Amino acid sequence: LRDKFLTLIADASDEAALEAIRVAAVGKKGEVALKMRELGKMTPEERQVAGPALNALKDEINAALAAKKAGLEDAALDERLRGEWLDVTLPGRTRRQGTIHPISQVTEEVTAIFADMGFSVAEGPQIDSDWYNFDALNIPGHHPARAEMDTFYMHRDPGDNRPPHVLRTHTSPVQIRHMETHGAPCRVIAPGRVYRADYDQTHTPMFHQVEGLAIDRDISMANLKWVLEEFVKAFFEVDEVELRFRASHFPFTEPSAEVDIRCSWEGGALKVGEGDDWLEILGSGMVHPKVLENAGVDPNEWQGFAFGMGIDRIAMLKYGIPDLRAFFDSDLRWLRHYGFAA
Ligand code: PHE
Repeated sequence: LRDKFLTLIADASDEAALEAIRVAAVGKKGEVALKMRELGKMTPEERQVAGPALNALKDEINAALAAKKAGLEDAALDERLRGEWLDVTLPGRTRRQGTIHPISQVTEEVTAIFADMGFSVAEGPQIDSDWYNFDALNIPGHHPARAEMDTFYMHRDPGDNRPPHVLRTHTSPVQIRHMETHGAPCRVIAPGRVYRADYDQTHTPMFHQVEGLAIDRDISMANLKWVLEEFVKAFFEVDEVELRFRASHFPFTEPSAEVDIRCSWEGGALKVGEGDDWLEILGSGMVHPKVLENAGVDPNEWQGFAFGMGIDRIAMLKYGIPDLRAFFDSDLRWLRHYGFAA
């Protein structure tokens, strides 16, 4: 019995075969167990000899099984190691990482700079009613500004009598929404997407603005000028900037001014702070009393300034990019060229 099982164990080729041998030899109904059952029929003298011998046999077989099992496991591991080698000296395969879009980066920078001057962030919907986008801002239905804005109107089915909605043409409706819910005084910016049917080197149908609004008892144009100068200096990281305030007209501000920044386009690259060109970056002015009224703020008690700045415009200037459209083409070669993508 001993020789039979020890030979079988030595010859077992895998763990399954070994397990079968274990069951046949020392399992509950194995041959050793059967022999043990016979002990009962023996005389005490015989039992004293056979009992320990059987136990010793069982131990010996178990030990042989364990040793063989360890051997088989080692062999299996060797086999796997031979198949699954890894050359750690091979150069790695790199994966390209996504990056934050330059417009998003600029929006975050702008927000941080205004936050330092005490402005918090307000938000409004990109699809808004023509009340918020126009009427409340003192732009009545017949006003030429509506046509000038190249507005995208939302489609309505015949018989749908809800007020017309538009893709907001500017961030100014957020002025109304903010004052309506928070009243005066206030100091907020509202960055976001705006839409106009316009397309050329410096215009895309979707673009970004940041609205500014500061309302208090004695806020003036002087405060506006200081805030804008501080902003431009911080944003372009320069000690001096040249801004040009041009008298202008917006229905929702009185007086109004447009602000340009000195730049040059020499050699196809856009440079800020030098040259003979000016790039318009924002419209601004003192909030019209009617606008305050429409938003539920008493114009006899409160006054303040508002501005709407083109985020894409200042991003073009910051990165020296002459064609705005490239920002939204998602052309990886272009993004990589300017360091906007890995
Ligand atoms: N909403 C104006 C525009 O988009 C800009 C502006 C905002 C002007 C606030 C004055 C005050 O052109």
